[in-house]
Amino acid sequence: MKNRKILCVVGTRPEAIKMAPVILALKNESWVDVRVLATAQHRHMLDQVLNFFGIDPDIDLNIMRPNQALTTLTARLLLELDDVLLAEKPDVVLAQGDTTTVMTVALACFYHRISFGHVEAGLRTWDMQNPFPEEANRVIAGRLACWHFAPTESSRQNLLREGVCDTDIVVTGNTVIDALFMTASKKLEIGVHLDDTRRLVLVTSHRRENFGEPFRNICRALRTLAEGNADIQILYPVHPNPNVKDVAHEMLAGYSNIILCEPLDYAPFVAAMKKAYLIISDSGGVQEEAPALGKPVLVLRDETERPEAVDMGVVKLVGPNFERIVKEAQLLLDDPDAYQSMARGISPYGDGKGAQRIVAVLKEHFA
Ligand code: UD1
Ligand code: UDP
Repeated sequence: MKNRKILCVVGTRPEAIKMAPVILALKNESWVDVRVLATAQHRHMLDQVLNFFGIDPDIDLNIMRPNQALTTLTARLLLELDDVLLAEKPDVVLAQGDTTTVMTVALACFYHRISFGHVEAGLRTWDMQNPFPEEANRVIAGRLACWHFAPTESSRQNLLREGVCDTDIVVTGNTVIDALFMTASKKLEIGVHLDDTRRLVLVTSHRRENFGEPFRNICRALRTLAEGNADIQILYPVHPNPNVKDVAHEMLAGYSNIILCEPLDYAPFVAAMKKAYLIISDSGGVQEEAPALGKPVLVLRDETERPEAVDMGVVKLVGPNFERIVKEAQLLLDDPDAYQSMARGISPYGDGKGAQRIVAVLKEHFA
């Protein structure tokens, strides 16, 4: 008998990817009624992930507006969440990560005195400006959460340092690896015409703190790499945020070995990561996935809340810094030993059983 109700919330592409294994695992349980709320902070990028995993939201707030501002997004989400929580009355709400969706969900649950479980808890840079606004979002969500599903031991340590009670933290591994394992074993197509004689450099970038001149530096570095290396092709699925999209097309269109495309659906993107020689990205999720696929990542940020792969030497921080991006990418393109030392196929972020561990904790508590 389903005598408990869990509301799982997703807003953006990475939340859907990382919550999908949890939602699917919970739906297999007989004791719980699982409801899925899509805030749709992202629209198309969210829908394609939910379609891929066969998840049909029970409630859809359709919140996304073009070039949405953080304040209005937050205010609109809080108002809509009020109605949902009053109507649904879940025993627990689960959300993942550090987006505006997650921060507002945690706050709305607090106001309604509903238990909130934070998936991917405890990531910290200890710098509120980097990444912005994500560091603040996850600190707020963490402060308000009852359950902290920490992906790694170091994220558990961060929570202990903030005074979270040890018994409220469970180290689960990151569910991004669950999703990756569910996907990478399938027959995958990138769906973009590529020149197989050239090495593939895969690029993504969307961080708010890089908007403006830092992002222009990134584009200049990509141009220099493309011009200096006829044997590479850069594939860059451009994030639809206008602050990124407009500049990327202005600065990178027209180069014969730079392909700009729409965001790839999740499975084609996994195919692109598998095919890539090198990945250059400021994405959180890509920093976790690429090491598991044995792909070196140069991270377009000065600090990361995911230090484990950096410590292992398979991810390197290069910032949005023209010289460092060009120098480190060129080293990996020219020096096989440097390349091999970063392409070791080790994953500090999970073993594919994160969702199983989260469900086990909830089951023990409720069932
Ligand atoms: C958001 C998250 C960020 C996360 C990223 C994942 C916040 C503040 N930011 O950043 O933490 O790393 O998602 O990608 O929560 N847009 C579309 N279609 C889509 C999605 C976005 O057109 O499917 C455009 C819209 O103009 C939208 C804009 O992108 O207003 C920005 O979306 P938003 O969710 O506010 O920020 P992101 O930069 O995507
Ligand atoms: N991703 C995707 N298509 C793309 C780029 C990324 O499906 O064109 C996936 C990627 O595999 C990862 C997630 O999106 O799982 C990361 O999302 P994003 O970089 O937007 O957000 P972040 O992880 O930085 O919050």
